[in-house]
Amino acid sequence: MTAKLKERTSHLESAIQEMEDFAYSASHDLRTPLRGIDGFSQAFLEDYGENLDETGRDYLNRVRAASQKMSDIIDGMLSLSSITRKKMQIQEVDLSGLAATIIRKLRINQPQRNVEFVIAQGLIATGDPQMLGIVLENLLGNAWKFTSRHQSARIEFGEKLADGKTAYFVRDDGAGFDMAYADKLFKPFERQHTEVEFPGIGIGLAIVKRIINRHRGKVWAEGEVEKGAIFYFTLNYL
Ligand SMILES: Nc1ncnc2c1ncn2[C@@H]1O[C@H](COP(=O)(O)OP(=O)(O)OP(=O)(O)O)[C@@H](O)[C@H]1O
Ligand SMILES: [Mg+2]
Repeated sequence: MTAKLKERTSHLESAIQEMEDFAYSASHDLRTPLRGIDGFSQAFLEDYGENLDETGRDYLNRVRAASQKMSDIIDGMLSLSSITRKKMQIQEVDLSGLAATIIRKLRINQPQRNVEFVIAQGLIATGDPQMLGIVLENLLGNAWKFTSRHQSARIEFGEKLADGKTAYFVRDDGAGFDMAYADKLFKPFERQHTEVEFPGIGIGLAIVKRIINRHRGKVWAEGEVEKGAIFYFTLNYL
């Protein structure tokens, strides 16, 4: 029984590896032809744009915008894939310190924003520091982005007990989301807001989920439209 289980597990693992390799090389190989489409439509516009009417130039600009969007999607797929391929370096990680650094950068980029941050001090976890940095960058970055249409905002990073385990959380009082879609948000390229309202391609939370999976933890979200959102994660690398 155990031998059979082992065989099936290893079979599944190699099937997953194959799919992962395929996703990586397909995304990678799409870059070159895409650069051609973007580059030549730009050259066409620059060299022959004067011979076109307004509509013609508009079409070409749309080709360029679409190839830029596709390039962002490909970059997203490559970052997602790099999380699976990366070797983990497990150590003690100062989550409060990481959060403080990320917040400093957010403030530097948009100093005019009126956002109060509340960070619990001394939150130390066990995990891969670079990967946990990416988790916090995405969660705090989302909190920052999805509060941007409010006059002022409050963003909190803390911990609480959930089912007897330490869960870290990032809470904001921004745009929020409809709970009916709470699980969908963690799937690649699934978004609940338009790009005009809040820019992005929808890869951040898929990356977060993959990192938390690699730490044998869980990630989940609660939200309410225009009231805010709270994202929790646990880590099980003890
Ligand atoms: N703090 C939040 N408040 C409200 N909605 C959120 C929040 N964080 C995520 N979401 C919802 O989940 C979707 C997916 O989030 P995710 O981080 O994956 O993508 P994104 O931020 O839109 O784009 P990207 O992260 O690729 O720049 C968002 O588009 C938004 O609809
Ligand atoms: Mg995001």
